[in-house]
Amino acid sequence: MKVAVVSRSGREVIKGGLELNDKATVAELQEAIHERTKKFYPSRQRLTLPVPPDSKDRPIILYYKKSLKEYCDGNSSSLTVVFKDLGPQVSYRTLFFWEYLGPLLLYPVFYFFPVVYRFFGYSINASTHHDVQTYALYSWCFHYFKRIMETFFVHRFSHATSPLSNVFRNCTYYWTFGSYIAYYVNHPLYTPVSDLQMKIGFGFGILCQISNLYCHIILRNLRSPDGNGGYQIPRGFLFNIVTCANYTTEIYQWLGFNIATQTVAGYVFLVVAAFIMTDWAFTKHRRLKKLFDGKEGRTKYPRRWVILPPFL
Ligand SMILES: NC(=O)c1ccc[n+]([C@@H]2O[C@H](COP(=O)([O-])OP(=O)(O)OC[C@H]3O[C@@H](n4cnc5c(N)ncnc54)[C@H](OP(=O)(O)O)[C@@H]3O)[C@@H](O)[C@H]2O)c1
Repeated sequence: MKVAVVSRSGREVIKGGLELNDKATVAELQEAIHERTKKFYPSRQRLTLPVPPDSKDRPIILYYKKSLKEYCDGNSSSLTVVFKDLGPQVSYRTLFFWEYLGPLLLYPVFYFFPVVYRFFGYSINASTHHDVQTYALYSWCFHYFKRIMETFFVHRFSHATSPLSNVFRNCTYYWTFGSYIAYYVNHPLYTPVSDLQMKIGFGFGILCQISNLYCHIILRNLRSPDGNGGYQIPRGFLFNIVTCANYTTEIYQWLGFNIATQTVAGYVFLVVAAFIMTDWAFTKHRRLKKLFDGKEGRTKYPRRWVILPPFL
């Protein structure tokens, strides 16, 4: 089979095209492209079918497990595919590891080394901490340690890689917010909340952290260990009420942390994180509805709130 590999503008990406056997898969085509152009390893390639210039349809993305013949439209002797370079890629585990490592390491710096406040013009005499600052440190570190552990031992990702640029974007988000919150919670002039408020906040926060782990275990069990299984309807626990119960518990865990620590920085992070997760929850909700609603032989997608049930 003759495969022409072109860019979106129609320029030939692989000079003279590629000759593959008739049973070749998309993965084999990607390998062949990689052999001809070393920098384009498979996860960097996005292959689609050409779309007529006046069409508003989205291009069909070639699935790596499918045979090329399935995309040939009757003529099995030639195929034209559109190539897009996705740029350098990193695995999702690498991305998550680096974005969570920052807050895990930076936060304790403000707790254990109050000398940093000297750089901001504060004179530090004794390094005593209020209970709330100590529990905030435990709660914070547990949260990010848990996330790293989940990344390696719980999540079953469907996407192999993410653009390298996302590492810089996500690290900026997590590392900056981590330092911003740590700065205020561990500040020498920090005023603690009442003992009761601290206990309610951390108690609620830890309950939500455990619930969040449980939600991630439910999601994990929707796929086989190799990450196959696509998207399923999560069921059980809070997933019977909301589509993205893991985001709901994440948001409420930060609310608990903020009730206990009470800083503007913490609430700013809560609002931004809730905004981001709500947006993603809507996308995931729509995807599941599209996959399961009214499709023959499939379960109808049950009515659910997207992320936050109003009574919570
Ligand atoms: N504080 C913040 O700003 C913030 C922001 C985002 C996330 N988080 C935290 O980080 C955690 C992970 O985030 P995330 O965005 O990666 O969560 P996510 O997309 O909900 O996914 C967690 C894992 O479950 C899989 N999954 C999700 N829905 C599924 C379904 N219907 N069927 C089968 N598998 C499914 C995902 O697969 P795929 O690989 O296919 O996606 C992924 O491997 C969140 O739960 C939250 O606790 C925090």
